[in-house]
Amino acid sequence: MRRPMVAGNWKMHGTRASVAELIEGLANLALPGGVDVAVFPPSLHVSLVVDCLEGQLISVGAQNCAHQAGQGALTGEVSSTQLADAGCKFVLVGHSERRQVMGESNEVLNRKFEAAQAAGLIPILCIGETLEEREAGKTLEVVGQQLGSIIEELGVGAFVNAVIAYEPVWAIGTGLTASPEQAQEVHAAIRAQLRQENSEVAQGVRLLYGGSVKAANAVELFGMPDIDGGLIGGASLNADEFGAIIRAAGN
Ligand code: 13P
Repeated sequence: MRRPMVAGNWKMHGTRASVAELIEGLANLALPGGVDVAVFPPSLHVSLVVDCLEGQLISVGAQNCAHQAGQGALTGEVSSTQLADAGCKFVLVGHSERRQVMGESNEVLNRKFEAAQAAGLIPILCIGETLEEREAGKTLEVVGQQLGSIIEELGVGAFVNAVIAYEPVWAIGTGLTASPEQAQEVHAAIRAQLRQENSEVAQGVRLLYGGSVKAANAVELFGMPDIDGGLIGGASLNADEFGAIIRAAGN
């Protein structure tokens, strides 16, 4: 049985004051026991969030890491080693905003994924198609290539200690959610691709859906057989809404 997970990606939001307020709201939530919960603040606030969530059953992750672990001359970057040292458990790799806006390629993301695991972090590999690609009927091809790049480079065994998030780019921050059936179709294809390499790995890996998830649509999405939880953007900035999404995953 896969344990559901709900992750909140705060993106480039939050000041010290608003982060403290959000954490207070999260700490007051009555969370179901069977769901893994993690929040992903901007790296600037990671230490603050780790300190404030001490003793809570909420893990902390980072939104990005450098393509090399350890320490070194890499101005402006934060390494997976440093993030682990600061108390992070997870790191997002390949969010579409980084693929598209920052131009991160599969090659760079393979190295980030590897660096994350080398430092003991659990990478959450984000994959998904643009609207143009969906309309051209290329969704499964695009997602298959993004996933295949890691499998080819690092082997399917890399997913024993990783999570995958399917986030259709057209559904991110747009209010347009993939229907439960659309999301399930892609999740099933992701699992099938992993199963071709190793059925045990395929069966064990958690597949999160992301893209305009709210309390109002979470129950239906999380009810699909291959959707093991969600990666939440905007709605994770509101503790009550995020709490309702977590409870939906616990049902
Ligand atoms: P929204 O939930 O705001 O659509 O963002 C999804 C996302 O990108 C999470 O990583």
